[in-house]
Amino acid sequence: MGKASAIPLELVDEIRSKALHAAEPRSLTPKQRDSLFEKIKILLKQRNAVLITHYYVDEQLQILTDATGGYVGDSLGMADYGNRHPATTLVVVGVRFMGESAKILNPEKRVIMPDLAAECSLDLSCPIESFSAFCDQHLDRTVMVYANTSADVKARSDWVVTSSNAVDIVAHLHARGEKIIFAPDRHLGNYVQKQTGADILNWQGFCVVHDEFKANSLRQLMQEHPDAEVIAHPESPTEVLDMASAVGSTTQLINAAKASTAKTLIVATDFGLFHKMHEAAPDKKLIAVPTGGDSASCVSCAHCPWMAMNSLDNLAAVLEDEHDVSHEIHIDESIRKKALKPIERMLEFSRSKGKV
Ligand code: 13P
Ligand code: SF4
Repeated sequence: MGKASAIPLELVDEIRSKALHAAEPRSLTPKQRDSLFEKIKILLKQRNAVLITHYYVDEQLQILTDATGGYVGDSLGMADYGNRHPATTLVVVGVRFMGESAKILNPEKRVIMPDLAAECSLDLSCPIESFSAFCDQHLDRTVMVYANTSADVKARSDWVVTSSNAVDIVAHLHARGEKIIFAPDRHLGNYVQKQTGADILNWQGFCVVHDEFKANSLRQLMQEHPDAEVIAHPESPTEVLDMASAVGSTTQLINAAKASTAKTLIVATDFGLFHKMHEAAPDKKLIAVPTGGDSASCVSCAHCPWMAMNSLDNLAAVLEDEHDVSHEIHIDESIRKKALKPIERMLEFSRSKGKV
């Protein structure tokens, strides 16, 4: 297992600063919330639009998505759903790479997002210039990138993967004798390497949410709850993953919660997932893995600051103006065509295994 160089410190500081300064939505009274719900329901019909929502966004947005016949799921499911739904406008309620994937797959559709400044630290930690130069130094390797990357980075890759299929796809390529560059999440890359034994050169990006989970505090929590089971998203640090009985994408974690016989689950992922996890496993007590010890400084505290930028207010606003292009995803056509191939490869692989 090889490593790319560390992410430059200036870039790490820039990412942390962006996370700290992400806009926070106002809190709503029940009356304001109900009136926004009604307004959005009407606008969705008028615009022939559907909501495609990630589990980490505010619970009210997930409830509204379900109530209007949209989709709440993991990043693989979101890409697949947008590709199959007949609506002419896809409203992606998540972070920008998710909107970009929807546009890459559906160029004929309008793809809009409540706030295009909703980024992702993994995407930010993999700038196209340095990544492309790195790939050029290792032309004998298959380039595999996580869905949490820009359209440019996807266009430079052979395969796109998500946390739900990375292990299976790497195992498939490893069996064919391929050596791999994996980017950008260092923990997911380590995890995939350990699971498959593949020869991987690993980019050193990180997620500001999962990278903060602390193995020491988790150990303590496990002593306080000896019968609890730990389940974790693979963007979490290796020591945390080593303590988990199930590791997987957000949807896979919900399924693991449902299948578990434990009464208490200690969960290493964004607490936005607790809404659907409670729905799927109502009898379980859910505890979040601690993000800090006494001296830790947490920029995310188990909740993605960029996912949190999505609100009923900005969702209503983006639907209101049908000519507004400032919230619409646009991708250069030559980049889109190149990025489409590795995404389609991934979707075909997952569909052939019955995973979407
Ligand atoms: P999933 O594909 O598991 O939903 O993960 C997306 C993500 O951004 C996790 O932080
Ligand atoms: Fe990116 Fe982490 Fe937020 Fe997921 S939780 S969107 S990986 S910053």
